[in-house]
Amino acid sequence: MCGIVGYIGEENATGIIIEGLKKLEYRGYDSSGIALCTKENKLLVRKKKGRIANLEKMIKGEDLTANLGIGHTRWATHGAPSDVNAHPHTDMSGKIAVVHNGIIENFMELKKELTEKHGVEFKSETDTEVVANLIGVCYEEEKDLEAAVYKALKRVRGSYGLGVVCADEPDKLVAARKDSPLIIGLGKRGNFIASDIPAVLKYCRQIYLLENNEMAVIKENDVKIYDADHKEVQREVFNVTWDADAAEKEGYEHFMLKEIHEQPDGIRDTLVRRMDDDGEIVLDGINLTKEDIENFDKVYIVACGTAYHAGLIGKYAIEKLAKISVEVDVASEFRYRDPFIDDKTLFIAISQSGETLDTLAALREAKKKGARVLSVVNVVGSSVARESDDVFYTWAGPEIAVASTKAYTTQLVCMYMIGLYMGRKKGIVSDETYRKYIDELMAVPEKVSKILDQEEKIADIAKKLYTKNGVFYIGRGIDSAVSYEGSLKLKEISYINSFAIAAGELKHGTIALIEQGTLVIAIATQDKLFEKMLSNIKEVKARGAFVMAVAKEGNTAIEEESNEVIYIPQCMDEITPLLSIVPLQLFAYYVARNRGCDIDKPKNLAKSVTVE
Ligand code: F6R
Repeated sequence: MCGIVGYIGEENATGIIIEGLKKLEYRGYDSSGIALCTKENKLLVRKKKGRIANLEKMIKGEDLTANLGIGHTRWATHGAPSDVNAHPHTDMSGKIAVVHNGIIENFMELKKELTEKHGVEFKSETDTEVVANLIGVCYEEEKDLEAAVYKALKRVRGSYGLGVVCADEPDKLVAARKDSPLIIGLGKRGNFIASDIPAVLKYCRQIYLLENNEMAVIKENDVKIYDADHKEVQREVFNVTWDADAAEKEGYEHFMLKEIHEQPDGIRDTLVRRMDDDGEIVLDGINLTKEDIENFDKVYIVACGTAYHAGLIGKYAIEKLAKISVEVDVASEFRYRDPFIDDKTLFIAISQSGETLDTLAALREAKKKGARVLSVVNVVGSSVARESDDVFYTWAGPEIAVASTKAYTTQLVCMYMIGLYMGRKKGIVSDETYRKYIDELMAVPEKVSKILDQEEKIADIAKKLYTKNGVFYIGRGIDSAVSYEGSLKLKEISYINSFAIAAGELKHGTIALIEQGTLVIAIATQDKLFEKMLSNIKEVKARGAFVMAVAKEGNTAIEEESNEVIYIPQCMDEITPLLSIVPLQLFAYYVARNRGCDIDKPKNLAKSVTVE
C-alpha cells in the first residue's frame, strides 16, 4: 500500500521521484512526501496530505535541485493521514530522512528510550519517526550513515522497506528490507530504489531484488548489498521483460475496464504456457511428484478477498478432480484456529500481489507445521512467491486497479490446472475427462470475448439499476462462490451495500429483507441446479424483487422469471465461473461509473494490504 521511490544520479531527483510515486498511486495512499539532499549538504523535506497533486502544488516554483532524494506515498497505520504524519520523517538533528513501509513492532519501547535517554521530541505519531531518530542517535556515535543504519536496525523488530539519506553524505542512499518489498533499479544515469518495479520502469529494466534482512548502499555508479551480518553479497541482475505500457490504460477510461478486457489474453497465457505440444500440463517451477501428491491427505487453500473467492472455486475443482478433501480459509482467520496441518498437507496460498501480510503470515504458520507450500501468485519475486516451496505464477500481467478482475480469472485457471495435474498424477482423471477439461478451458478466452461483446447491453442495464441501495447475489453450487465475488466487486467500487448468499439459504432468514424493487442478481449457470434456481428466483420475485439473471445460452426458461437476463456461452458446468464472473465485473464497473465513483482507487482500499 505505501510506496517508496529513491534516486541518486546525474539528473534532478525531484521530478524522477514524483513521477515514480505517481506510478505507485494505484497501491492506495493518503499522503505523499519527498526529501532531497543537496550538494550544499542541506536536507529539504516537503510533504502533504492527500493526492500527489497536492504535493506538486506545494513545491511548484521552488528550486528543489538535488541529485539525491527519497519519496513516499503513505497509507496510514500509526497516526491519522496528515501533513505531519506523512513521510519522509527526519531525526532530531534534521540531517537524516527516512521513508518506510511496514510496521515497527517495538516502536513504543524505542520511542520511550529515545525520549528519556536522548531527549528526542517527536513531531508525529508514526513509528517511522522513531526509526529516523534511532538512526540519528546511532549516527552521532558512528559518524557514518551505513554503520548507523546497520546498528539501528539491530534494535528494530517488525517489518520494513527503508530508504535513508543523510545531508552530510549526499553521495549515497541506504536501503534495507525485512518483510516488505524493496528493489534496486540500475539506471544509465543513476540508480534507484523502489517498493515496486513500475515506479522505475521508465528508467531501468535491470534490477536487484533485495532479500529479507539485507541492506544496500546505493551510489550514483555503484551498488553494494550486505546480508544480516553486514557481509557483502553478490546478487544476480533480474531483467524486467514486461512492458511499461502494459501498466498504462491504453485508451480505456479506467484500469479496471482495461483489465476486464485483458482477461481473454491472461487466461490464454496462463493456460497455454503450461501446456506441451501433446496438450499435457507441464507445471514449470513446480516439483510436485506423484509420490508427493499421493502423500497428501488434505489441501488447505488460504487467501484474502477476491483471491479467497478463487480458492472457493479451487475447492470444487480440486476435490472433484484430485479426490482429496480441501478446506478454504480466509488468511486473517486461519492462524487463530490452530488448523490441523502436518507434512501430509498441501497448503495453497493464493495472492495477486504476493505481499498480503495475512496470507504471508498464514503461509509461514503452515510451513512451520510442516506443510508443503504451493503458491498461486501474479507478482514475480514477491514475498509469498519467495517463501513458497513451489510457485504457480498467473500470467495476468500487472493489475493496477484496486478491484481485482484478471487476477481472479487467471487464479481460477490455476485452480483447474492444479486439480487436473494432481488428478492426472494420481491416475484418477481419465484421458477422456482430461481432454474434455482441456478443450473446454482452451475455448474460454474466445467465450470471454463473446461476453465482452455484450458490454453495451450490460452498461444499459447498469444505467437502469445504478440507484439501487441494497443488492443480493444468489447462486447454487459453484454459482454461490461466484456470487460472493460478484457482490464484492459491486460493493468495493460502487459503495452499494450488497450481500451474497447461497440461494437455498435465503428462506432461512435473509428473504425477510426482500421487498418491492430489491435488486437480486441470480447466477443460474448450473444445468443440474437450474430448476432449483428458478424456484429461488420465483420466491424473491413473489416478494417484489427485481431480478437480473446470469444464465447459459439456451436456458431461455429463465426469461419468464427474470426482468433482465445476461447469457454466457454454453460450457461444462464445472468451468462456468470463468465466464459468469465477467458480466458481473462489467455490471459493477458500469454501476460505479454511473454513480461517479473513483473506480480505480475506491475509498478506504489499497491494492496491496501489507498490514494485518
Ligand atoms: C478485491 C481485491 C482484494 C484482494 C485481497 C487479496 O477486488 O482486490 O480483495 O483480492 O486484498 O490481495 P492479494 O491477492 O494481493 O493477496
